[in-house]
Amino acid sequence: MHSDPTRRSAPIPPWYDDLDGSLAEGWGLLVRGAADRRSPMHTVAVATVDAEGLPNVRTVVLRAADPARWRIRFHTDARARKLEELARQPAVAALAYHPAAKIQLRLVGTARVLAGSEAAAIWAQVTPHGRQCYRVAKAPGEPIASPAEGASMDADGADRFCAVEVEVASIEWLYLAAAGHRRARFRRDPDGPITGEWLVP
Ligand SMILES: Cc1cc2nc3c(=O)[nH]c(=O)nc-3n(C[C@H](O)[C@H](O)[C@H](O)COP(=O)(O)O)c2cc1C
Repeated sequence: MHSDPTRRSAPIPPWYDDLDGSLAEGWGLLVRGAADRRSPMHTVAVATVDAEGLPNVRTVVLRAADPARWRIRFHTDARARKLEELARQPAVAALAYHPAAKIQLRLVGTARVLAGSEAAAIWAQVTPHGRQCYRVAKAPGEPIASPAEGASMDADGADRFCAVEVEVASIEWLYLAAAGHRRARFRRDPDGPITGEWLVP
């Protein structure tokens, strides 16, 4: 393969060989992803474990990322299959990739469904457009005779709205660079410090 002389490689970022800096960069991308719908990290792939122990993965919108508490949040319908799966096995893996930054983040954690006043406070912030999804009469994933059947609405949606917070226990970082890829794993023990180590990319 010939190298293209018009293509310049990206400058080495300040966090290139810095574990703490890489972790901060990763969280920064997630925070921006949650806030900015144009960010490629505005959506993440969230995997759960199904009743047969098989992985099940789907795209969700990243609604919040909290670097101080190592939490991320997404919203879903209370009747969704992913919630049945989380009730059985609260383990979650989440995947985000930022093509321009060339950074992949693989998060593993434990899900908690927010309830009561916490959920109500979040629902109060959901736009009328966002609330439409939760008004649909039939449960997501239910078979229907025609697409129109899936559009009928019968409620204001508040009771079906569900916010899921994932307490992140580990983050795997991968930065792709012409100068050499960088891969690291960070772990957060709720009772201990955050630890990080480099891995072979
Ligand atoms: C771009 C995009 C964003 C999505 N955002 C969400 C979301 O925030 N919450 C959600 O429950 N489903 C979202 N979905 C739909 C899910 O991928 C999935 O189809 C649905 O939640 C049913 O999943 P389940 O049957 O595993 O529960 C999104 C899909 C796409 C393509």
